Amino acid sequence: MNLFYKKVYDVLKEKNADAVVVSGGANMRYLSGFRGATGYLYISGNRQVLLTDSRYTTMAKAEAEAFEVVEISAAAGYGKLIAGLIEADGAERVGYEDQVMLCADYAALNEAGGRRLNVPLGNSLDLLRCVKTEEELELLAKAEEIGDLAFSHILTVLKPGLTEIEVAAELEYFMKRNGAEELSFPSIVASGENSAMPHAMPGSRKLQNGDFVTMDFGCVYQGYCSDMTRTVMIGKADEKQKAFYNVVLKAQLAALDSLKAGKKGCEVDAVARTIIADAGYGEYFGHGLGHSVGLQIHEWPRLSPNDSTVLVPNMIETVEPGIYLPGVYGVRIEDMVVVTEDGYRNLAHSPKELIEVG
Ligand code: GLY
Ligand code: MN
Ligand code: MN
Repeated sequence: MNLFYKKVYDVLKEKNADAVVVSGGANMRYLSGFRGATGYLYISGNRQVLLTDSRYTTMAKAEAEAFEVVEISAAAGYGKLIAGLIEADGAERVGYEDQVMLCADYAALNEAGGRRLNVPLGNSLDLLRCVKTEEELELLAKAEEIGDLAFSHILTVLKPGLTEIEVAAELEYFMKRNGAEELSFPSIVASGENSAMPHAMPGSRKLQNGDFVTMDFGCVYQGYCSDMTRTVMIGKADEKQKAFYNVVLKAQLAALDSLKAGKKGCEVDAVARTIIADAGYGEYFGHGLGHSVGLQIHEWPRLSPNDSTVLVPNMIETVEPGIYLPGVYGVRIEDMVVVTEDGYRNLAHSPKELIEVG
């Protein structure tokens, strides 16, 4: 049984709150085990209640064993039911996810609940998910393995004349045929000058010889996301392209080398950023070096100049430096790794030396 809800008691204590209302999504799944998209959790020292509608009650009872499942009705909606729980508990200070809840839902629930949703939790509940259990790490490894298999497969498919959308479709179909339940984010396949857009959307551009093709893709396996990027060359790379690619590779390898428990996210980011800046491309690496991954594709902590979180074992991080020359081309290389006491364990095993296809 998933008893992660107990972690909430630390947050209640820290925030001096009597109860929390969790408003769906990843935290609801994490804390209760319930995979349905719609509902609320109410967690206090006395009760753990999952409120949902009739589409989900059967599933909720099976998945959220540690919770009382309460079904909403026309006569008693979320507002009335949550207000009843708050009242019965005598809870004066109730936490809510101000970074997740819709303003309209907050206004309605707070009004119904006697204005006692009064402790904004920021990302406190998200932070409970930072350090993964062995079971979670296995699912993340499996999700990333599907990504590795998809990359091997796509190397047999890539050729001049295919469109970016066709390449993305092939990656996605392959991942689903190999155990993925869905995509962890819209796949990026960006060729030639499009590869200079870090989050380009695949389009009708056809691959040509001399193109870099950046493929950033991932899937969801039993709720857990994967994320990887490889950039390959269609045909032969010229010397300039090879040198350009190798700056990114060098930055990626050096950042990985520096990564271990005890380091701050910003320190690992700085390792890659310095190499890229020293090569003269500092202004062309605009995003952070990486992020954590779990039930969501972007989790805490980040490897970024703005995140000084100290890494601890069993956190997940992506390491994904990139250089993007507008109108010319770009390269990004991304692995997903587990932080360990003395380094990291890479969940991605696909080669990173520049691959020339065809
Ligand atoms: N494209 C999602 C990511 O790599 O962060
Ligand atoms: Mn990615
Ligand atoms: Mn990523």
